[in-house]
Amino acid sequence: MPRVVVFDEFGGPDVLHLVEKPVVEPAAGEVRVRIEAFAVNPLDQMMRSGALPVTIPAPHARLGVEGTGVVDALGPEVAGLEIGDPVILTAIPDATVRGSYAEYTTLPANRVIPRPTGLGSTEAAAIWVAYSTAYGALVEKARMQPGDHVLVTAASGSVGRAAMQIANQIGAAPIAITRHTAKQDDLLAAGATAVVATDQADVVEAVRHHTDGAGADIVLDLVMGPGQPDLLRAARPGGTLVAAGFLDPRPTPFPAGTPLTIFSYRSFEHTVDPVVVRRMAAFLDAGVRLGALRPAIDTVFPLDNIAEAHHHLEKGLHAGRKIVVTPWFDR
Ligand SMILES: NC(=O)c1ccc[n+]([C@@H]2O[C@H](COP(=O)([O-])OP(=O)(O)OC[C@H]3O[C@@H](n4cnc5c(N)ncnc54)[C@H](OP(=O)(O)O)[C@@H]3O)[C@@H](O)[C@H]2O)c1
Repeated sequence: MPRVVVFDEFGGPDVLHLVEKPVVEPAAGEVRVRIEAFAVNPLDQMMRSGALPVTIPAPHARLGVEGTGVVDALGPEVAGLEIGDPVILTAIPDATVRGSYAEYTTLPANRVIPRPTGLGSTEAAAIWVAYSTAYGALVEKARMQPGDHVLVTAASGSVGRAAMQIANQIGAAPIAITRHTAKQDDLLAAGATAVVATDQADVVEAVRHHTDGAGADIVLDLVMGPGQPDLLRAARPGGTLVAAGFLDPRPTPFPAGTPLTIFSYRSFEHTVDPVVVRRMAAFLDAGVRLGALRPAIDTVFPLDNIAEAHHHLEKGLHAGRKIVVTPWFDR
């Protein structure tokens, strides 16, 4: 019988275990996907540990917001998909039935998109969360244009790397922020036009230098916390800051009197909008075809080692590269 990753209580990685469950027949408007690979995300870790204020249905709560596979069964009233089609899951967090941590999952047909042409299953498993977040924040919210200077915080992370590739695809200039000068070469190789390392440089001065005194047009703030006021000062008046992450747990000062437009962004607001999802799918497909978009992979684990995959995530040594699990690796 197919295997599914479940947890029955909040806790560390070892609460995750495998159970066998019969496949779920798709209802009207649903598809079943045979999962080839899924990625492990910090959001999964937060759901597993109880850090998110969600109620989990015990026993057998499920996890997983992204993955890839092929359509295995179609429910009634599903148009535009055929059995065998390679797809990407764009699921929202749901601890009951929709998680991608499994050999099969059944979900609404509007939560899958075609797998970008030319992307293998390991990379396809890892593209949705990081790239849809970066695309949604920069293109849909901030309306990024060619020539814009885009300040990318946590640039060495998975969303930051995706943001730099997307900025380059559009013709904008991504300026990467890192806390460590040692990461400068890696970030330039990852697409940054300039790097600001906060262990040596002052953010405001350095950004002014890299933008001929003008300031950044757009700031993607994945960190928040007490560093945000400097980001606001590093942007030009009339620019845009999109707050999409919260890596720094310290409070963020209220941005009183700022001449910037500030958005708070959660990608799930777009994942449930089929019109935006279609635009995202087209953008990702074009970017992969042109070679502009390519997720970086850290380690691939077999399904049996799911707890080890979460331990690996918690060590934080993957440096913005994705951790992927392949359910059929050992079958
Ligand atoms: N809005 C959404 O829908 C959405 C979707 C996905 C993720 N997110 C959020 O976006 C953020 C980034 O996600 P990710 O997957 O890219 O993370 P990640 O891959 O774990 O990013 C790690 C990088 O962030 C930097 N960093 C870590 N802690 C930091 C701190 N306290 N202060 C400053 N920099 C720090 C580090 O870069 P350096 O060592 O180089 O400084 C590190 O390499 C997270 O908060 C995540 O929850 C939001």
